[in-house]
Formats: sequence, structure tokens, C-alpha cells
Amino acid sequence: MNQSISLFSLFSSILHLFLVLNFYGGVTVNGDIVSNLCENVTRVYPTQNYEFCVSALEANPLSKTSDIFGLGVISLELCSNNATYIRTYIDGILKDGKPEPERARTCLQNCIGFYSTALEDVQAAIEAFKGKDYVTAYRQLVTGALIDADTCKRGFQDVGVDFSPLKKQNYDFSQLIGISLGIITEIRGTTNLQ
Ligand SMILES: *[C@@H]1O[C@H](CO)[C@@H](O)[C@H](O)[C@H]1NC(C)=O
Ligand SMILES: *[C@@H]1O[C@H](CO)[C@@H](O)[C@H](O)[C@H]1NC(C)=O
Repeated sequence: MNQSISLFSLFSSILHLFLVLNFYGGVTVNGDIVSNLCENVTRVYPTQNYEFCVSALEANPLSKTSDIFGLGVISLELCSNNATYIRTYIDGILKDGKPEPERARTCLQNCIGFYSTALEDVQAAIEAFKGKDYVTAYRQLVTGALIDADTCKRGFQDVGVDFSPLKKQNYDFSQLIGISLGIITEIRGTTNLQ
């Protein structure tokens, strides 16, 4: 008798523990769309950085109450702001500093042009995304913005100039574009967008 009571209470404590863990587990997974989305994006695109994704999206307080479509707009706007900022940043290097060697100056000037085109591509992607034309949005980002950012980088490599002044900016921009691509993929339910 005593034994069956203690077995019963042991069983009910285990059940209780299970329910509590399950409840909190459920809350973290379902309650936090940003971390859930960033897990998905990182799974589909392994070069994406999970912590970067979460902190980039959470920088906008609206992300917590957005659905996946809203997060898509937020992430694309981050790309747009970032491209604008990178142009200004490069302008600053050209005005204030003395890029060494002088060849770096030409590379930086070219990059202003590449990031201007990247910005136009992102704007076109935003229009397409808002109109639910996900194939066009995806293409603008992959064959436009990402290639422009990469061409900026290759300009330095081609003439053997140190790329480090723009390394962080280039990485951030590519990661932000990757988040948008992941979101478009998630909405479409397929990576086949060619
Ligand atoms: C993440 O992927 C899972 C499994 O495909 C899906 O059920 C869930 O809705 C996705 N999360 C978001 C925020 O899109
Ligand atoms: C560009 O994006 C990165 C990552 O979100 C951020 O650290 C950086 O401050 C951004 N710059 C601007 C001006 O948006």
C-alpha cells in the first residue's frame, strides 16, 4: 500500500516535471518567432550566423510582433539601410583618411558605385516582395545585390590591395541579404527559385 502510494507520487512528479518542461519548451519555440526563424534560415543556409540573425532582427522592436512577411520587410529594410550606410562609410574613408596604397582609393571609389547599384537592387526587391513576387525579389538579391558586394571585394583582390577596411561592412551586408533570402525561401517553402 505504502509502496504503491510512493510509486504513484513518483509517477505524478515525473509527469508534472514533463509537463512543466514541455510547457516552457513550447513557449520558447512557439513564442519567439525571431529565434525560430533564424534557426530555419541557418539550417537552409549554413553560412548564415544564427546570433547575427537574431540580433539584426531584434534591433527592430516590431520584429517581436511581426509575422514572417513582416520580418521579410524588416530584413529587407535592414539591407537597404546598410547599403546606404556603407556608401557613406566609404565616402568618409575617402574624405578623412589617406587610403594606402593609392590603388585602394580607386577600389573604394568603385565600391561606392557597386553599393549604389546594390541599393537599387534591394529597393527593387522590396517592391517585388511587397507585391508577393518572391521570384523577382530573390533574383534581385542574388544576381544583383550579392554580386555587387562581391565585385567590390574582388576589386581589392584583383589589384592585391588589403580589403580589411570594408571587411566587416561587406560581411554584415552579405549576412543581411542571406536573412532575406532565407525568409523568401521559408515563405515559398522551397529553395528552388531559379
Ligand atoms: C521553421 O521551420 C518549421 C519546419 O519547417 C516551420 O514549421 C516553422 O513555421 C518555421 N518557422 C518560421 C518562423 O517560419
Ligand atoms: C549594418 O548591419 C549590421 C548588422 O545588423 C549592424 O551591426 C550595423 O550597425 C548596420 N549598419 C547600419 C547603419 O544599419
